[in-house]
Amino acid sequence: MGADGKVYTLEEVSQHRSSKDCWLIIGGKVYDLTKFMEDHPGGDEVLLSATGKDATDDFEDVGHSSSARAMMDEFYIGEIDASTIPKKVKYAPPKQPHYNQDKTTEFIIKLLQFLVPLAILGLAVGIRFYTKSTS
Ligand code: HEM
Repeated sequence: MGADGKVYTLEEVSQHRSSKDCWLIIGGKVYDLTKFMEDHPGGDEVLLSATGKDATDDFEDVGHSSSARAMMDEFYIGEIDASTIPKKVKYAPPKQPHYNQDKTTEFIIKLLQFLVPLAILGLAVGIRFYTKSTS
């Protein structure tokens, strides 16, 4: 890793958010992209829009090439103190309520699904047998 590996807070990084002085946080590392603003193929505006926060997702969403990733070292100035970055709001799927905690109802339904057709069949056969023998 380059530089001295200084640890910055989000507060400090956030102070560098202009086209003349721009720091970004990507993958837990802090980059000073001031010199790169004009050369960035994606333009300086996207870089500016990604300042003052964790820009990892923005960076990854673009699907930067490996050569783009290799360039990053050049701008590395230190690490970010992760505790200063607000936690990402993760989507937590709602917990599935547990229907039929009691397995007996489930069992009875299954049993009926098996017995009812059987009973109807038995009834049909019975009726047929009965009508045949009486007529
Ligand atoms: C150290 C940080 C960065 C470096 C060194 C960098 C470098 C590059 C390079 C070399 C390209 C050309 C395509 C490629 O090789 O993948 C590129 C494209 C692009 N970058 Fe970055 N980038 C950085 C950060 C960012 C961030 C944080 C964003 C979004 C907020 C961003 C948005 C884009 C976009 C949208 C393109 C696509 C341009 C196009 O294809 O028209 N970049 N970047």
